[in-house]
Amino acid sequence: MKNLEVKIPQTQKQYPITIEQDKIENLKTKILNVIRGQKFLVVISEKVNKLYGDTLGFTTEEKFVLKDGEKEKNFSNYKKILDKALKMQLTRKDAIIAVGGGVVGDLAGFVASTYMRGIDYIQVPTTLLACVDSSVGGKVAINSDFGKNLIGSFYQPKAVFINTNFLKTLDDRQYKTGLGEVVKYMFIEKSCLCKEDLNLSNFISENIDKILSRNLNVLELLIEICIKLKIAVVEQDEQEKGLRKILNFGHTYGHAIENITKYRKYTHGEAVVSGIKFVFALAEKRGLIDKNYRYWAEDILSKFNFKVVSDFPHEKIIKAMKLDKKADFNKITFILPVDYFAVQEFSLLPDEIF
Ligand code: GLY
Repeated sequence: MKNLEVKIPQTQKQYPITIEQDKIENLKTKILNVIRGQKFLVVISEKVNKLYGDTLGFTTEEKFVLKDGEKEKNFSNYKKILDKALKMQLTRKDAIIAVGGGVVGDLAGFVASTYMRGIDYIQVPTTLLACVDSSVGGKVAINSDFGKNLIGSFYQPKAVFINTNFLKTLDDRQYKTGLGEVVKYMFIEKSCLCKEDLNLSNFISENIDKILSRNLNVLELLIEICIKLKIAVVEQDEQEKGLRKILNFGHTYGHAIENITKYRKYTHGEAVVSGIKFVFALAEKRGLIDKNYRYWAEDILSKFNFKVVSDFPHEKIIKAMKLDKKADFNKITFILPVDYFAVQEFSLLPDEIF
């Protein structure tokens, strides 16, 4: 078991993250200890509820069961959850518990951030992607017809409970999508300016088979490293004014692909890994990195056998990238590799890209 802590100096926000392999039936007691007698509403993914609903032990009345899929992170479900919370007469002292992947965490967190101007919420991530990335750092949002995560806020959870047992039943594609975010951390490690030298690339290279076969001891360590990197970034820049942008490595191109294919064809991780390959090619073309680093990156990515996307018409990609929240006038912002495990932000005109 590992205990980590997020401490944001500017706002004095502080919360614990536990990473463990304890029995899932013990989770409810641990969560209730943190929310200490408050009323609560559990927002839970339909899949997780089917597999673990009985084991977790929350009653039907306490739960809002959310269908799975990015399209569920919408206004309609946002309103339904608010209505359920109002019907249950949750007050400002009460809490929302999010049990599921990034969609559940983002949506439930956004409800928590706006219900009665903000109530507590607890993150219980059940996908690898949510464990290593979205459950930590307080980005909460819903999607709009105009794009992904366009309505949201920065709102930190009260606690994060990671139990690696949930990862055993994750389908292969969802597991791989989480690995897409894991490799992202590897490529940005030096730029996270973490005080500890975590050497994620070594850890990944040495444990690749165990990672792929979901060895839970190795996964616990892997998640710990990724979260330490995320904590380092979030503590320095909670609201993405500067440093936190590096967490978008691979995402400018990745989000464009997701947008073009309406979030149906590729998972987020598949899109991000495609984006990582794209920025490696772009960085080499612009003389920022040498061929050897690009080959090394492609080689390690190939070991994970990610499904990669590469054949979209350039005009379509450019148009979609211009819709990105990070786009600035005519220029498109990328986080590009500049050295081994180091990245920097660049704003490029469309004709500097292809
Ligand atoms: N997932 C990127 C961030 O939390 O900033």
